[in-house]
Amino acid sequence: MTTEREPDPIAAFYEHHPYPPPIDDLDRYRRGWADGRLRRIEHHRRWPSAPFRDDHSILIAGCGTSQAAKYAARYPNARVTGIDASATSIEQTRRLAERYRLDNLDLRLMAIEDVGQLDESFDQVVCTGVLHHLAEPEVGLRALRDVLAPQGALDAMLYAPYGRTGVYMIQEYCRMLGVRPEPGDIDDLVASLRELPTGHPLGPLLRNTPDFANDDALADALLNPRDQAYSVPGVFALLAGTGFQFDRWIRQAPYRPQCGVLGGLPHGERIAVLPIEQQFAALELYRGTMVRHSFIAHRDDDPPTTIRFDGEAWGGYVPIRTANSVAVQERLPAGVAAALLNRAHTYPDLILFATEEQQRRFELIDGQRTIDEIAADAAFFERLWWHDLIVIDASAQRCHE
Ligand SMILES: C[S@@+](CC[C@H](N)C(=O)[O-])C[C@H]1O[C@@H](n2cnc3c(N)ncnc32)[C@H](O)[C@@H]1O
Repeated sequence: MTTEREPDPIAAFYEHHPYPPPIDDLDRYRRGWADGRLRRIEHHRRWPSAPFRDDHSILIAGCGTSQAAKYAARYPNARVTGIDASATSIEQTRRLAERYRLDNLDLRLMAIEDVGQLDESFDQVVCTGVLHHLAEPEVGLRALRDVLAPQGALDAMLYAPYGRTGVYMIQEYCRMLGVRPEPGDIDDLVASLRELPTGHPLGPLLRNTPDFANDDALADALLNPRDQAYSVPGVFALLAGTGFQFDRWIRQAPYRPQCGVLGGLPHGERIAVLPIEQQFAALELYRGTMVRHSFIAHRDDDPPTTIRFDGEAWGGYVPIRTANSVAVQERLPAGVAAALLNRAHTYPDLILFATEEQQRRFELIDGQRTIDEIAADAAFFERLWWHDLIVIDASAQRCHE
């Protein structure tokens, strides 16, 4: 379906610089999701109280070249709809869909702002790396809110400002020089970036972002015609103005003063008494290098189930270890039996040091036992949860109901 919207420079940009760099192989990706464990973790990250399902209706809004195909491959029982304003993105996704016979995937060339024309609602809306490119992100997000089912979950990723300072400096530099997203200009830009002065704020991103080796991805970051970042307060303001309620960060430990180095410093206590949104904002300022915010939100007329460790319910929670959580035995401080950590974290201070007894409790987590059945230690399981080492299945509440 095509829409009658004015041509958007962003759509034109992604026609020529599709993102992410196109792929033609989903075999490894599909194998990674085959055993169902990841699906259960991701379900309870979004819906702790709802019994596990993997047959949701899912909208991938601004799906790029492969995201919608990946969702269709990892959730064969789900119905997935991918929309994008760029015909190249839709075409690349269609190729993957054909190659992998993804009959559960529907693709539409369509702007997010027009998504209401589908006349459908979705249990999950995924919109990552897109809203910050819209002329009016509030309008796009409001349109997504209107198609989110009452118990539905929004997964979003927005750029964050402070960690991208170097990106915004080079974007401005390129605008001054009239650098355009065309092959010759990109080659010249790459040549200049190779000689970027030591200590330039873009340096760490250039070194650590594999994407930057690809011209389209480089253009996506440095020559994008529209790109506005959101600080933590900006994320909360955007959600509040569009009918959403924040639920959680996908990875929450970096935003939590008790989880990292600040937990052992006097400022950790000062931050911990602030309202939770200010705690998150303070951590963004302190860490200084966050480049994006990935989070889950729900409709504000359907507030999310809060995981609480101070009431009656927690003993009946079933903890499930997250995919990247491990107990490490190397280079431990005295009196510590293990360092519990999530390998997906990029901040090295996000470690939970465990005693022998705590390590035993961690090993007993099998996705079946409740907290009461392992050990009635709310404080420890709360720390595991904040450290992204577990998600909670609160759907049975076996012990306390
Ligand atoms: C950076 S890519 C992100 C792709 C994908 N979400 C991912 O995370 O891999 C941004 C995508 O959003 C699409 N896009 C930008 N503005 C849009 C709009 N108003 N409506 C629909 N798609 C849009 C672009 O065409 C592009 O494919």
